[in-house]
Formats: sequence, C-alpha cells, structure tokens
Amino acid sequence: MGPNAAQAEQPKLPIPGVKNLIAVGSGKGGVGKTTVSVNLAIALGRLGHKVGLMDADVYGPNVPLMMGVRSAPSAIGERIQPIEKNGVRIMSMGFLNPGDKPLVWRGPMLHSVIQQFLRGVDWGDLEYLVIDLPPGTGDVQLTLIQTAPVTGAVVVTTPSDVSLEDARKAVHMFNQVKVPILGIVENMSYLICPHCSERIDVFSTGGGERTAREMQVNFLGALPLDPAVRKGGDSGSPVALQNGNDSHGAVFRELAQKMLDRVKETGPPVGPKIVISD
Ligand SMILES: Nc1ncnc2c1ncn2[C@@H]1O[C@H](COP(=O)(O)OP(=O)(O)OP(=O)(O)O)[C@@H](O)[C@H]1O
Ligand SMILES: [Mg+2]
Repeated sequence: MGPNAAQAEQPKLPIPGVKNLIAVGSGKGGVGKTTVSVNLAIALGRLGHKVGLMDADVYGPNVPLMMGVRSAPSAIGERIQPIEKNGVRIMSMGFLNPGDKPLVWRGPMLHSVIQQFLRGVDWGDLEYLVIDLPPGTGDVQLTLIQTAPVTGAVVVTTPSDVSLEDARKAVHMFNQVKVPILGIVENMSYLICPHCSERIDVFSTGGGERTAREMQVNFLGALPLDPAVRKGGDSGSPVALQNGNDSHGAVFRELAQKMLDRVKETGPPVGPKIVISD
C-alpha cells in the first residue's frame, strides 16, 4: 500500500502498555540493522528496562536465528504471546513461517500483518519496543510510521559511500513523516587485524559521523567489524550478552545509553491529543 491520503489520515493510536517505539532502519540492505536491533534490545534490557523486539522484516525475518529462538508462540484467546529470550519479548514472522519457504504478500496483507504485530501481540508493559525494519523506504516503513506513534528512528549504515547515500534517503524519509532521528550508527566501521592489531578501514571510515553532522542528526557510535559479532548472530548468542567492561556488550550498552539520552531530548512521541476536561 502506498502513501495514499486515506492511510495518511489514520490516527496514530498508541500501543497499549508500550511507552516508546524505536524503529531501526537503513536505506541499504545487509548493513547490520538486525544485528543492531537485537543487540540494542538486549543492551536496553541489561540497563534495566522492559524491552520488546518486533521483527518487521516479514519477508526475511532474521531475528529468530539471531536470538536463538526456535519455538512457536502460543496465543491466549486472540492475543499472540511474544517469546521471551535474553531478557527481551520477541515477535517475528519467522515464528509463524519457519524454514526456507518464502512468503508472497501484497500491500494490504503486509499492512495487516504489521498491525497484528503491533496490536495483536500481548506485549505487556514495555518501556521500549525496538522494531527491526526491512531495508529501504517501502511499504512496511510507511505502514508503521503512519499508523503508530514512533518515538524515533535509529539509522544504520556502513562507512561506504553507497551505504551512506542510502542512509541519507532513510533520514529524509523519517524527516518527511516527522519521526525524530535518534541517531546514526556506523556499523562495520573498522577491523582490527587479529595478527598485528592494525586497524583496517574495510568500508572507508568516518562517513557515518560526517553524514550525521551534515544532516544535523546525532551520531550514536561506531561498531567494529568483528567475526565475533557475526558468530554471535549466527549462533543465537548475540555479543550484547557479554558482561565485561571492554567487551562488545559494553559497546552496545554505551550505544543504548546514548540513544536513551536522545529519547529524553526528543520527548514523548506524537500521538492523538487527548483532552480531559473536568
Ligand atoms: N559489526 C559486524 N561485524 C561482523 N559481522 C557483522 C557485523 N554487523 C553485521 N554483521 C553480519 O553481517 C550480516 C548482515 O547483518 P544483518 O543481517 O544484521 O544486516 P541487515 O541490515 O539486517 O540485513 P537485511 O537488510 O537483509 O535485513 C550478518 O551475517 C551479520 O552477522
Ligand atoms: Mg535484517
């Protein structure tokens, strides 16, 4: 479904019990949105918050693998129960359609799946619902942004020019629909050679921070390219679970804290105005 007038006029009704919706997007695919979403959600949980993770990549859901969840969710009445893992309540299309079989949906069906995930899931009381978006600036993004009061967006990019070009598009999209940008994350920023400890800028360097400055948005930090991050994702044991002060876990907790500081600055999401008269 495109950005037509009827959709644009729908009120952005809050999700009962959920205080903040945090969208994680990028223009380009494969830059690490799911990796950042999963680790950010775990880090927020480790910082003491009640956190959910909604996998809005309904065509290519990777959250179940990265979170190491294989079970199917149950339902109580009509309400789907999210699966709790690593301190995070999770919902993904991958729970309902496991395996390699692709799903083929048209716009209206996609729209109702996103609504189901937002409103038909028993999220309970959450301070933060992190939403892992599919790549690009398409129907899922629009449906989400136009129907739910998104607190803000985290835009993930690598330092390469192609990725940055697409990240700028994502920032513009969120700006157009008045979703505050919480910040840009530069993923796969550099590689530390395991043999000589030399820093190698595989995808160039500094582009995320520069782009953030140019677009006048926050820079949330740079994450190294590290096989441990990939292994953590592939094994369902994300690096954010690491406890040490100089671990990846600490890096993601710092990223999460910076994002929280920015959430405080932006204030509550734009929702319907409720006037209570006495
Ligand atoms: N910092 C990193 N270091 C090493 N590997 C990484 C890093 N970030 C992501 N990866 C790996 O790169 C691959 C792509 O990452 P991921 O699936 O998170 O990207 P994505 O943006 O969600 O992709 P898509 O657009 O397909 O949804 C994964 O195998 C992931 O484990
Ligand atoms: Mg992904």
